[in-house]
Amino acid sequence: MTARDWFEKAQKENFAIGAFNVDNLEIFKGIITAAKNKNSPVMVEFSPGEAGYFGLKNLVDMVVNAREEYKIPILLNLDHSKTVQDCRAAIAQPGFDDVHFDGSHLDVEENIKGAKEVVALAHAKGIIVEGELDKLGGSSEVHDEEIDEAVLRQSYSDPKRALRFVSESGIDIFAAVFGNIHGTFPTQPDLDIALLTQIKGALPDTFLSLHGGSGIPAVQVQSAIKAGIVKVNINTELRIAYRDALVEKLGENPKEYKIYSFSEEIAMAVSAVVENKIEVFGSSGKA
Ligand code: G3H
Ligand code: CA
Repeated sequence: MTARDWFEKAQKENFAIGAFNVDNLEIFKGIITAAKNKNSPVMVEFSPGEAGYFGLKNLVDMVVNAREEYKIPILLNLDHSKTVQDCRAAIAQPGFDDVHFDGSHLDVEENIKGAKEVVALAHAKGIIVEGELDKLGGSSEVHDEEIDEAVLRQSYSDPKRALRFVSESGIDIFAAVFGNIHGTFPTQPDLDIALLTQIKGALPDTFLSLHGGSGIPAVQVQSAIKAGIVKVNINTELRIAYRDALVEKLGENPKEYKIYSFSEEIAMAVSAVVENKIEVFGSSGKA
């Protein structure tokens, strides 16, 4: 099944596929172990920083090997790529299912132009494309500051603008902004599900993604899935699980230099978070 088939299935059967960012090998193992345990399809994704750390060829090999070994659907996505060149490099690698061209920093015409170019390259290889029009704030870290809701609201997606962007660019997945933000914060506004419903109404044939998935209460994520979200991106909560487990293990083993001796336990701490997300997204048992 292709990524398109998977998202169509998710749409029909009312679940979402988790798109989990991969910072390092322990996080990768944690994600695919959870997906295997839950018999769930999963998407692994690499931001430009994460892809740069692994190297494009290495990460593709790692995912291709894992598909064979774990025998579960592991979709591969290039996450938040800001340039057509980076998307082109991923599309040229056999192994990618999806590329996310994030032109939200560009003016709308430039964004459409770039997204269109990526769509032409990607579709020729059977790869789907995610586009982003409205800049999603924050960053995938633990934030101490409070969110200014009035400022955040200014970046929410407008259904009419979204329709124009999607029709002119030809993208397959629209990154909707309706109260979501990258990272975790002390408090955050509720997702605007009424707005999401309007966006879905304007884009009935386009898949919708929910970025900034960390820190959003499970019930709200589930309401968003009911309203049309088929892809939920998670990064910060995995980074927290990894870091906390690493710090704990180093504290417990001050004389240990063979760090891989507790890498498995660290991966399992990440896996527990992913298993929980898979349950929330309803993708358990769908593989
Ligand atoms: O593409 C990545 C995600 O949108 C991550 O957001 O750090 O809030 O989970 P998050
Ligand atoms: Ca978040």
